[in-house]
Amino acid sequence: MSTSDDQTKEVTETSSPAKEESSQENASGGFIILFFIIGLIASLFVGWIIFPKLLYSKKNQPVNFNHDIHMGIVEDGCESCHFFREDGSYSGVPKLAQCIDCHEEVQGENENEAIFVAQYVEKQKEVPWLVYSRQPDCVFFSHAAHVKTAGIECVQCHGHIGESTNLKAYEENRITGYSRDIWGKNMLGYKKNPWDRMKMDDCADCHKEMKVAKSSAQTKKDACFVCHK
Ligand code: HEC
Ligand code: HEC
Ligand code: HEC
Ligand code: HEC
Ligand code: HEC
Repeated sequence: MSTSDDQTKEVTETSSPAKEESSQENASGGFIILFFIIGLIASLFVGWIIFPKLLYSKKNQPVNFNHDIHMGIVEDGCESCHFFREDGSYSGVPKLAQCIDCHEEVQGENENEAIFVAQYVEKQKEVPWLVYSRQPDCVFFSHAAHVKTAGIECVQCHGHIGESTNLKAYEENRITGYSRDIWGKNMLGYKKNPWDRMKMDDCADCHKEMKVAKSSAQTKKDACFVCHK
């Protein structure tokens, strides 16, 4: 009994609610788009904000060193601490011996200096500095070729650390073990400044630009051994 009733109802109603139905369809289409947008935002949030945070572990430097203060005190600028040895090799990160003349005893009331003197100078222990620009062991890099021969400035590869008032945290990629300064700050590898990343392509791009003979011919197997040991 009810079935026939319903059927007649349906038949009579089909003509009129066509409008309603289509607006219902629109509404559900709207929901699908809304869910899509919410999903997209959520995945962008995870991909661009959460994931990079999880991907990198942050470590603070053992001592917070202030380049700016020291540049006002030392006599030979950067070379007071980062210099070429007689054999042409680069001294790199300074050793305690280069600090001790001035920091045998605490100079001021600075907390960082107090930590430095108590933990390292007094114990005659080298500071285990974390090197932002560290490349994997298979890579050969010489400061002499770049700084002395080619005359490239520190800032081109390292950014403005020489003028900084504190050392940023060292960020290590949990999967690859690379420093974030090598791997790059942007997820797509996009860079604004030449020092934003220093992967193989970044070395090679400059070599190409500056026409470094052997390494620009990257198709030849020999070319690999310019930068690889
Ligand atoms: C030519 C002298 C001189 C040399 C060399 C020197 N320092 Fe200093 N350093 C100073 C003076 C002066 C201050 C300021 C003292 C203060 O006000 O606390 C200072 C401050 C500091 C501070 C605290 C300031 C801050 O907040 O960063 C640290 C840490 C420090 N030095 C570490 C080092 C280390 C590490 C080396 C070696 C790589 C070194 N210094 C080499 C003179 C020197
Ligand atoms: C008084 C000593 C001192 C002087 C002078 C000094 N530095 Fe440093 N520098 C340090 C110490 C200590 C570090 C910490 C090591 C680290 O970051 O791994 C450092 C780190 C650096 C690094 C980071 C290396 C890396 O990848 O971790 C760069 C680049 C650098 N200095 C450049 C400069 C430049 C450019 C100047 C001159 C404008 C300069 N420094 C002057 C002591 C000095
Ligand atoms: C062409 C790029 C380039 C230029 C220019 C350059 N560096 Fe570097 N620097 C590097 C790379 C790459 C490394 C890492 C080397 C490695 O891990 O084998 C490095 C490493 C360092 C380190 C850490 C070395 C260590 O003990 O492990 C210091 C300190 C440093 N550079 C300071 C300087 C200073 C100061 C200048 C300017 C006088 C300079 N660099 C110029 C690319 C450059
Ligand atoms: C800003 C430009 C620039 C960047 C960045 C750069 N280089 Fe170079 N590189 C040069 C120039 C210019 C020379 C040639 C110097 C000379 O005339 O001896 C050179 C030479 C070299 C040499 C010696 C090559 C030879 O033929 O003897 C090696 C090794 C090298 N670079 C490795 C690297 C590595 C590894 C990186 C990246 C971590 C790098 N370079 C990044 C400009 C650059
Ligand atoms: C201009 C210098 C340069 C040249 C030339 C070069 N490489 Fe590299 N290569 C690097 C640097 C710097 C790294 C470390 C950063 C990175 O992984 O991008 C690297 C990393 C690598 C890695 C990854 C190693 C690891 O531990 O993850 C491989 C594989 C590699 N290179 C192969 C090659 C081959 C094959 C060639 C020759 C076709 C070559 N490279 C030529 C600079 C160079």
